[in-house]
Amino acid sequence: MEPVEEAALKGPTPRGWRAWTMKKKLIMFGGILAGIIALAIGLGVGLGVGLGGGGGGEDEEGGGETTTPPTSGNYTSAKWNPTAGTTWQIELLYPLNDTSVDVDVYDIDLFDNNRSTITALQDAGRKVICYFSAGSYENWRPDKDDFKKADLGSNLDGWPGEKWINISSPSIRSIMLGRLDLAKNKSCDGIDPDNVDGYDNSNGLGLTQADSINYMNWMANEAHARNMSIGLKNAGAIIPSVINNMQWSVNEQCAEYEECDTYAAFTQKNKPVFHIEYPKGDDTNNNLSVSSSEKESACTFTGSGNFSTVIKNMDLDNWIETC
Ligand SMILES: *[C@@H]1O[C@H](CO)[C@@H](O)[C@H](O)[C@H]1NC(C)=O
Ligand SMILES: *[C@@H]1O[C@H](CO)[C@@H](O)[C@H](O)[C@H]1NC(C)=O
Ligand SMILES: *[C@@H]1O[C@H](CO)[C@@H](O)[C@H](O)[C@H]1NC(C)=O
Ligand SMILES: *[C@@H]1O[C@H](CO)[C@@H](O)[C@H](O)[C@H]1NC(C)=O
Ligand SMILES: *[C@@H]1O[C@H](CO)[C@@H](O)[C@H](O)[C@H]1NC(C)=O
Ligand SMILES: *[C@@H]1O[C@H](CO)[C@@H](O)[C@H](O)[C@H]1NC(C)=O
Ligand SMILES: *[C@@H]1O[C@H](CO)[C@@H](O)[C@H](O)[C@H]1NC(C)=O
Ligand SMILES: *[C@@H]1O[C@H](CO)[C@@H](O)[C@H](O)[C@H]1NC(C)=O
Repeated sequence: MEPVEEAALKGPTPRGWRAWTMKKKLIMFGGILAGIIALAIGLGVGLGVGLGGGGGGEDEEGGGETTTPPTSGNYTSAKWNPTAGTTWQIELLYPLNDTSVDVDVYDIDLFDNNRSTITALQDAGRKVICYFSAGSYENWRPDKDDFKKADLGSNLDGWPGEKWINISSPSIRSIMLGRLDLAKNKSCDGIDPDNVDGYDNSNGLGLTQADSINYMNWMANEAHARNMSIGLKNAGAIIPSVINNMQWSVNEQCAEYEECDTYAAFTQKNKPVFHIEYPKGDDTNNNLSVSSSEKESACTFTGSGNFSTVIKNMDLDNWIETC
């Protein structure tokens, strides 16, 4: 089928690649900025580090200008609440065809997999998280014609066929509710909405952290109303404002970029951090094991014992190595 081909061409690379470009930017600008701020003010620069403190209280983020503190109340509870350390596999490149990985959870593409694939996993005692892009338009998805031109922003850098979208638009939210209904109809236990950190990218729509916070809390309540759980993908800066509504984090490359302490906010609440490292880099996708030093870097960091780390190829095919 054609979607497979297209997924193979367009599906996978962006995820790691997007993270990579974002991180590259963070390193280039954030690092320089942090240095300047540190020199000028002489105050603690550890923006995310403050998150780790305390014994379970709500910590505010140190220097996040636009991050609002957690709003109390208005959170809904989920039916399925996995605990920190839950094991998982993620495969987004093609319809799932290898269910032999012995893990608790499979994270697979919402559109590319049918209900039978999902219920078969569940019959085997697994939970299924369904992936879709919640913050970008993808020009090959079956609901692509529902997107209004006015809601489309900049191209995702280096990724033809994808554009940032206005996550505050009622029309976009209606499209996403259709995706949630599809996920529910396919029997997904949870959803993995990607690209919710438009604020961190040149999106052409003026998206802010506040927009993402509102979007994620809205989507969480809608997912919960459908008996589905939800996690926050990357987007470390907004964790304090959405974590009470999230059942997990999906993170790319926090070990490589030394920001796992930010995501440990989840494990400290006994929620999983489904964590991916790509030691082979952007262009190498094969079935070979990584070196022991690469594995050590991916698997060992402060608090890593509570993370759900997988080592993957950047294209998110079947290949997996665990710690
Ligand atoms: C799964 O499907 C992909 C894409 O069609 C194919 O390359 C791969 O060999 C298949 N793997 C298995 C285990 O069937
Ligand atoms: C579901 O997908 C699988 C694998 O992609 C395929 O083999 C199967 O025929 C599909 N089932 C239905 C009911 O469409
Ligand atoms: C995004 O949608 C909101 C809600 O409809 C609207 O207020 C805002 O102006 C839109 N942003 C852009 C850049 O069009
Ligand atoms: C989900 O299933 C219901 C009932 O079978 C149907 O009315 C609805 O259109 C379906 N929604 C989607 C998005 O598939
Ligand atoms: C609570 O969340 C719901 C669903 O996202 C939203 O419709 C409602 O406006 C929120 N209420 C408050 C007081 O923030
Ligand atoms: C959610 O699950 C509960 C308990 O299993 C059930 O009673 C309820 O009908 C479900 N709601 C939806 C919207 O599926
Ligand atoms: C990995 O091995 C599987 C099955 O042995 C094969 O289908 C797949 O093409 C291989 N992938 C790569 C990237 O070599
Ligand atoms: C995992 O989390 C628990 C509870 O928060 C904590 O007691 C334990 O030390 C953590 N383990 C590691 C390896 O960080």
